[in-house]
Amino acid sequence: MTYLANPARYDATGDSAMEYRRCGNSGLRLPAISLGLWHNFGGIDVFENYRDILRTAFDRGITHFDLANNYGPPPGSAEENFGMLFKKDFLPYRDELIISSKAGYLMWDGPYGEWGSRKYLIASCDQSLKRMGLDYVDIFYSHRPDPNTPLEETMGALDSLVRQGKALYVGISNYSAEDTKKAIEILKRLGTPCLIHQPKYSMLERWVEGGLMDVLGDEGVGCIPFSPLAQGLLTDKYLKEIPTGSRATFAHGALLHDQITPELIQKIGKLNAVAIERGQTLAQMALAWLLKDQRVTSVLIGASRVSQLLDSLECLKNKNFSQEELGKIEGILK
Ligand SMILES: NC(=O)c1ccc[n+]([C@@H]2O[C@H](COP(=O)([O-])OP(=O)(O)OC[C@H]3O[C@@H](n4cnc5c(N)ncnc54)[C@H](OP(=O)(O)O)[C@@H]3O)[C@@H](O)[C@H]2O)c1
Repeated sequence: MTYLANPARYDATGDSAMEYRRCGNSGLRLPAISLGLWHNFGGIDVFENYRDILRTAFDRGITHFDLANNYGPPPGSAEENFGMLFKKDFLPYRDELIISSKAGYLMWDGPYGEWGSRKYLIASCDQSLKRMGLDYVDIFYSHRPDPNTPLEETMGALDSLVRQGKALYVGISNYSAEDTKKAIEILKRLGTPCLIHQPKYSMLERWVEGGLMDVLGDEGVGCIPFSPLAQGLLTDKYLKEIPTGSRATFAHGALLHDQITPELIQKIGKLNAVAIERGQTLAQMALAWLLKDQRVTSVLIGASRVSQLLDSLECLKNKNFSQEELGKIEGILK
C-alpha cells in the first residue's frame, strides 16, 4: 500500500510532540530523537519490520536517519534497503529528511577501503549515494580518526564532497577532544564548518564529559550521541535474563554476553527504580538524561521493533530532573 505520512507529524501540541534543536551554531535543526540504521535494517533483517520502524519514525516527527557505508550485515545492505524504501515511501518527502552516511571503517579490500584518505572518503561517498539512490546526503562524516593520514587530507576530502554537491554538511565521529578542536579549525579555514560530532555517550559511557562536550559547546558544533541506551543495556530488558532475539544473543551484534555482569545488572536495577519513581521506563530516563544538556542536539537511537521506538519517544514527556534525582543517579553510576 502507498505510504502517506501522518499529517500531524509536526504538530507542536501534545507533550510527546517532537522537539527540533538547533545543531550548534548552524541553521539546521534536528529532531531531539534521531534513528540509526546500524542494526535491524540489513540483508538479514525482515523487510516489513524495518519498513514499519522507518514509517513510524517519520510519522512521529523523526526527520533524521543515520547510516554508514558498512551498516548491515552484510556491509552496504542497510544503505541498499534504505534506498529501496526511500524510493517507495519517502521520495516525496526528500526535503523533509536529513540523511547521513559515513566512511572510516573497513568497506572493501585493498589499501583504499578504510580509514581517512581522500581516495577512500570520496569513493565511499559515491558508493553510498549509489546504494541509496540519492543525489546528495545531508551530512557526511569521517567515521573515525585515522592516525596515519594528515587531518588536513581527511578534512579536505569532506570539504570537497560539499563543493562537489554530494553532501550539504560534514561531521566527525569518534574523534578525541583534541583532534576535534584541530578538525574544527581546519574545516573553518576551508570554509566548510564542522556541523556535528557523533560520539558514543550514555549513562554508562561518559568519556565525552572529559573535554569533548566543552569543545563542542565553545565552538558551536552540534552533538549527536550514539548508542544512548548502551545498545539496550539501559532498558529493563536484561534485568531478569538475556532474552532470546536481543542484541546480546546475536553473533553479529557488538554487545557481548560477557559485558552483562551481575554488578552491571545491579546498577541497572537501581537506575530502573529511579526511572519508575519518575514515572518513566529506564529507556526513557536514559534518553532524557542526555537531552537535559542543551549542547546535545539529538540522541541517536536504534530500535529492533516499533514498540521500542514508541517507548523511547515517550522520553520527550519528561526531560527535567530534580537535583535529588540527579544526585541519586550519580551515586548509582559512580
Ligand atoms: N559513529 C559510530 O561509530 C556509531 C557506532 C554505533 C552506532 N552508531 C549510530 O547510532 C545508532 C544507534 O546505536 P545503537 O543501536 O547502539 O543505539 P541504542 O539506542 O543504544 O541501542 C538500540 C538497541 O537497544 C534495544 N532497545 C532500544 N529501545 C529499546 C526499548 N525501548 N526497550 C528495550 N530495548 C530497546 C534494541 O536492541 P535489541 O536488538 O536487543 O532489541 C535496539 O536495537 C546506530 O544505528 C548508528 O546510526 C554510530
